[in-house]
Amino acid sequence: MKKPAITYRAARASDLVPAQKMIMVSFNDLRKKSGMARIKYKITGPDPWMAHFIKTDPEGAFAAFDKQDRLIGYAQALIRENEWYLGFLFVLPEFQSAGVGGRLLKRALDYGRRNREIKRWALATFAYNPQAIAIYSKHGMTPQSPLIAMVRKWDEKRPPRPIKGGCTARIVTDIDHKLIGRLTAFDRKVRGIARPEEHFLWSDTDTIYPMVFLEGRRILGYCVVTKGGSIGPIAASRPELLKPILISALNYGLVLGHSRQLIQAVGENVEIVRLLIDNSFRIEETSLVMASERFADPQRYIPGHLAHY
Ligand SMILES: CC(C)(COP(=O)(O)OP(=O)(O)OC[C@H]1O[C@@H](n2cnc3c(N)ncnc32)[C@H](O)[C@@H]1OP(=O)(O)O)[C@@H](O)C(=O)NCCC(=O)NCCS
Repeated sequence: MKKPAITYRAARASDLVPAQKMIMVSFNDLRKKSGMARIKYKITGPDPWMAHFIKTDPEGAFAAFDKQDRLIGYAQALIRENEWYLGFLFVLPEFQSAGVGGRLLKRALDYGRRNREIKRWALATFAYNPQAIAIYSKHGMTPQSPLIAMVRKWDEKRPPRPIKGGCTARIVTDIDHKLIGRLTAFDRKVRGIARPEEHFLWSDTDTIYPMVFLEGRRILGYCVVTKGGSIGPIAASRPELLKPILISALNYGLVLGHSRQLIQAVGENVEIVRLLIDNSFRIEETSLVMASERFADPQRYIPGHLAHY
């Protein structure tokens, strides 16, 4: 029997490395077409985030293969409470605009539709790819707000000075199951959903440092700082606490020995974007949050990663 040109199936953990290689090619092709420099990175094993999502949402991961069984497309959707979020959707350049992305997206959306509770559909994508913006808009997720990737770098021997105005609340870095239970209720208010899966990952990973800010027993906010220099997510109970918690996170990165820091600032939060620019952060690129309804609270929340917000 003649084999169909493209086949689709649920993705498995063993697909992750080929998927990452395909994503790198697709991402750099898009950057090149948009007049941007390629980003080189070594793939030495499964990406920790992709490995996490395929564990938490195994029925939300899909892969497409050509006749030679080469992985040419990949999608991963996540469900957290009543929110569906698209972590990844990429197609190899020579297979783009032929319906592969649409078919992968349909499977990912069906994963959400099977879960009748879904109220919010969301993702973040590159502001410079009109095709991506179009495909999601067609499915009822339209651009809601810009996400600005901001970076500062320095010579390890000459780190910047700590920024004044950090949060003076009590900080807890040893985050146990009980505290994660309380963070779950906190996230519902600030982020719109609970996401204990990610809190467990952050607290169990050696290279990730979560901090919770407390007044008595009350949670004022939290932030996540990675060894590699990613800052976020950052969540605050009140808008005026977001800035001091962000400053504490940036200063903590200096203690950890960062020589580069990356943050995804939400464009609607003027004060935060200005604080970062005033402290030597430079804008690298802009992404768009696309959603079926207003998404998280930009005055109280800064996302950590485009793939899970
Ligand atoms: C975005 C991407 C996943 C889409 O996959 P694809 O296989 O190329 O897309 P498809 O061929 O299935 O569908 C694209 C749709 O967008 C439509 N489209 C393309 N450009 C458009 C535009 N400027 N305005 C409106 N619609 C447009 C097409 O007509 C098509 O719709 P149709 O299926 O109703 O005909 C793929 O192009 C890709 O990997 N791009 C680079 C990486 C990227 O941006 N990924 C998204 C990260 S979240």
